[in-house]
Amino acid sequence: MTSAPSTPNSAPSADTPEPDVYPPNPAFAAAANAQPSLYDDAARDRLAFWETQAERLHWHEKWSDVLDWSGAPVAKWFVGGKLNVAYNCVDRHVLEGNGERVAIEFEGEPGDTRTLTYNDLLAEVSRAANAFTDLGLVAGDRVAVYMPMIPEAIVTMLACARLGLTHSVVFGGFSAGALRSRIDDAEAKLVVTVDGQWRRGKPAPLKSAVDEAVDGAESVENVLVVRRTGIDVEWTEGRDLCWHDTVDPASPEHTAQPFDSEHPLFILYTSGTTGKPKGIVHTTGGYLTQVSYTHHNVFDYKPDDVYWCTADIGWVTGHSYIVYGPLSNGVTQVVYEGTPNSPDEHRHFQIIEKYGVSIYYTAPTMVRTFMKWGRAIPDAHDLSSIRLLGSVGEPINPEAWRWYRDVIGGGTAPIVDTWWQTETGAIMISPLPGVTTTKPGSAMAPLPGISAKIVDDDGKDVGNGGSGYLVLDEPWPSMLRGIWGDMDRYRDTYWSRYAEQGWYFAGDGAKFDEDGALWVMGRVDDVMNVSGHRISTAEVESALVGHSGVAEAAVVGATDDTTGQGIVAFVILRQGVENTGDPLIAELRSQVSTDISPIAKPREIHIVPELPKTRSGKIMRRLLRDVAEGRELGDTSTLVDPGVFEAIRKA
Ligand code: PRX
Repeated sequence: MTSAPSTPNSAPSADTPEPDVYPPNPAFAAAANAQPSLYDDAARDRLAFWETQAERLHWHEKWSDVLDWSGAPVAKWFVGGKLNVAYNCVDRHVLEGNGERVAIEFEGEPGDTRTLTYNDLLAEVSRAANAFTDLGLVAGDRVAVYMPMIPEAIVTMLACARLGLTHSVVFGGFSAGALRSRIDDAEAKLVVTVDGQWRRGKPAPLKSAVDEAVDGAESVENVLVVRRTGIDVEWTEGRDLCWHDTVDPASPEHTAQPFDSEHPLFILYTSGTTGKPKGIVHTTGGYLTQVSYTHHNVFDYKPDDVYWCTADIGWVTGHSYIVYGPLSNGVTQVVYEGTPNSPDEHRHFQIIEKYGVSIYYTAPTMVRTFMKWGRAIPDAHDLSSIRLLGSVGEPINPEAWRWYRDVIGGGTAPIVDTWWQTETGAIMISPLPGVTTTKPGSAMAPLPGISAKIVDDDGKDVGNGGSGYLVLDEPWPSMLRGIWGDMDRYRDTYWSRYAEQGWYFAGDGAKFDEDGALWVMGRVDDVMNVSGHRISTAEVESALVGHSGVAEAAVVGATDDTTGQGIVAFVILRQGVENTGDPLIAELRSQVSTDISPIAKPREIHIVPELPKTRSGKIMRRLLRDVAEGRELGDTSTLVDPGVFEAIRKA
């Protein structure tokens, strides 16, 4: 069920009636990778345009057809083409004479550093590929990756890609239970992890969660462990392997084999509207083409840039804009392991200053956190190297946008507000720096080669000034190819809403302003967006009712100044269970943390006597959202018992 797009549930409201506009700086525009002709080229012949973009890559064998959409909604792009993703991200740069170029400037949370050139990366990826082969893994097998932001995580992903192994990266903040369900769903044979990760100056165990997760997991043959913190870990002989004894001694020579353009590259689980996460499947040729094209044009990457995307590889942004997009373009990038306030709030700015970061890509929630900390902190650093800023994961409110440009971007850096999803694989809607005149808070327009519409319930265009549902009306190269093991859910979730038209339903509300600029307003389904992380209301509800004292739970996302949305839960206790107040609430929050992840912990939990329901028994989340945000109640006419709110408000 969706709610009306005119009442978006996550966008902090625009704080100026008439948005100001920011035309590109002429000097930037003249040197920009993207030129206005890109739009014309794509409009003239969209498929030929994508063929040109695919030529950015090295293909062992060229494709015969650019697109086969006859099996819609499962596309085939660059049909019959063969390539190797790791070869494109690593070997190619070495072969072109750039082996001495720095690929990764790694900054550990404790302050340790490591520099990997493309030569180093090639040797490391080859060693890992040889070691994985010796473990008996063959193309098509799945590998789960449960690691913090250290170079070995990137090496592991690239080694999988090199061998045609399909990786499934699970965010290191997820619980053992969440890891287990993802391992089981993908039937992973190998799990790659670390002893522990550095978090706020302390080592936090990770291997112990893997031990719990793989206990009895039938598919898992080996657990490969990188030593990161040196903490003690339990060891299961025959199953557990030390990275340093397995990968380090392996040969640094390995010849990459080509794989079909449609070979599955990775599975990445994301929240949907039910309690069960969806394993989004991405393939090879189309994905790499679009992440490479967008990284080049949207971030305007040049050989002397230093790029930093602050995402974690556990999310799609880390896949597409730390690993595959940037490395396919031969970047030099910063990879930082820790939290932004460790040891203090200066850390990100110190890193920008130290490495001369010129392109910085983060989430609005980070910008709002910086705003809260105050501009004295960034002002204490020389940030003059910054020449472009990016935003992703949620709508950026105009106030944060302007602050970002003024304080971090020296009042001149263009901002690219990039809309996309785990499912889309790569950026879809964004300004092109040097081309687009931007408006704070607007993602502006679909990129050249991408087609999107905003439509009403019947699929009619809303036109300028109108709001509705965001749909993608043409297939695109990096589109998902399905949900792992559940193609019915794939069709149902994304393609049934506008089945007649054959459009992809993104689940976001959006509007065109009077000038035709596109504004994404937030989810219109039961998915919350907390600090740019997608969390389903159903998942949190199911964690709460997993507590023995809880009879029923309803969860909503309420607007939050810093995190975009905050999780607010309403809980009914079982008969006879005593409401002990704070201790019980603490128990419930930790239940969610253990079941899913600390990122899913509700901001507020209200113990209530009843929940508002329709006559058919459906919980009316819209009304709970009104309560959570302290608003006047909307239409209550379909409620069984309108008096229920008196009881909730008193609780
Ligand atoms: O609601 C949109 C929001 O994030 C959702 C996708 O989340 P996920 O798959 O986790 O990927 C996040 C990183 C790509 C979208 O449906 N979203 C993402 N970027 C923006 C955004 N909302 C508004 N503006 C954006 N730039």
